[in-house]
Amino acid sequence: MNKNNQEIISRKLQFINESGTLAMAKKTQELIKQGHEIISLTLGETVLYTPDNVKKAGIKAIEQNFTYYTNSGGTDELKQVIAQKFYRKNNLKYNIDQIIVSNGAKQVLFNLFFASLDVGDEVIIPTPYWVSYPEIVKLASGKPVFLDCSAQDGFQINAQKLESFISDKTKWLLLNSPNNPTGCIYTKENLEAIAQVLRKHKHVHIVSDDIYESLTFDDQLVCNMAMIAPDLQDRVFVVNGASKSYSMTGWRIGYGAGNKELIKAMSIIQTQTTSSPSSISQKAAVEAIANGDHFIEINRADLRLKRSIMMSCLQPPLSYVRPQGAFYLFLNYQEALSDDIKNTYQLHTSYDVSQFLLEKHHVATVAGACFGLDGYLRLSYSGDGDKIRQGCEKIAMALRQ
Ligand SMILES: Cc1ncc(COP(=O)(O)O)c(C=O)c1O
Repeated sequence: MNKNNQEIISRKLQFINESGTLAMAKKTQELIKQGHEIISLTLGETVLYTPDNVKKAGIKAIEQNFTYYTNSGGTDELKQVIAQKFYRKNNLKYNIDQIIVSNGAKQVLFNLFFASLDVGDEVIIPTPYWVSYPEIVKLASGKPVFLDCSAQDGFQINAQKLESFISDKTKWLLLNSPNNPTGCIYTKENLEAIAQVLRKHKHVHIVSDDIYESLTFDDQLVCNMAMIAPDLQDRVFVVNGASKSYSMTGWRIGYGAGNKELIKAMSIIQTQTTSSPSSISQKAAVEAIANGDHFIEINRADLRLKRSIMMSCLQPPLSYVRPQGAFYLFLNYQEALSDDIKNTYQLHTSYDVSQFLLEKHHVATVAGACFGLDGYLRLSYSGDGDKIRQGCEKIAMALRQ
């Protein structure tokens, strides 16, 4: 970038990184344009189509001219359906003034941190984390504080360790279960242990990003902090959305539920940024959330099968913590990478390994370092089953060759 261009960019963007997952997708597209066939294990969405009843609801909204701005924080109709979903699935009661609808869960998180963080306020982010959390916190003038979680602990927070990360500046603890990138689900026992710590620190609020809530594959129950600790419900802000459960990433509907005053502040931000979520998408989301359970079962069965294909192709010395939800597997390649390959291709970081797999073996993955943990790759199993098999076999071979 030349100096003039640099000067036009604000200082606050100096510390903001482009999403690592999107950067890799761009590189993959370049290679495809050059005529290479790339196996992509980077997808952040399911490959099933948006269900027909949901598409029809969107079409009907257009035909009936439901094509104008809505209430900034979402229509009452959609908020009612969301409140019913919370009661039906999570046993949580919310009034509609405790709910906001935004353009994706990402905008909910953006509004939330914008509305609540002052300069220097801290947000504890367990590592590995979804790529956008630290960047959104920084954009909102906050300070991400990284709390590393080990594979031995199933990539879950150790409650005792958490306590030593809480300061008088801590505003939020961010929990994401099922987790992107590990697929891990917080156990009820661990959430209870974390709740015990939080009861002692009343100034700390909890964001629960439940976007992958319905995509689970074993018998493990998915709970969030508000469900486990009703006495903390007023301090918990739940984030969810239509993107992953109903294959609706492009419709851009996310929602949040929590403290009424916070919701009001977030809605004000939304009035001054995107005005409202799309009216058409909101009608489609009403149909998805009210009548989409059958589709969720289809989505889960499809992903469960693909998860088993992926796991069967990844044998020791490759290793991973069994993913129980979402559609990602977080692969530890360190033992499997031969010294020969490492030295020949100078593979020092997970970025190097991911780049090597893409350029030399035409398999696209995402470097663990994008999620705050080197030595790993995130593999998505939401794509085609045969491609998943071929991609994983190529990875295993490429690292030991
Ligand atoms: C953990 C997590 N939270 C939130 C989001 C954002 O989802 P949305 O499409 O609703 O903005 C994603 C998307 O990949 C995610 O992985």
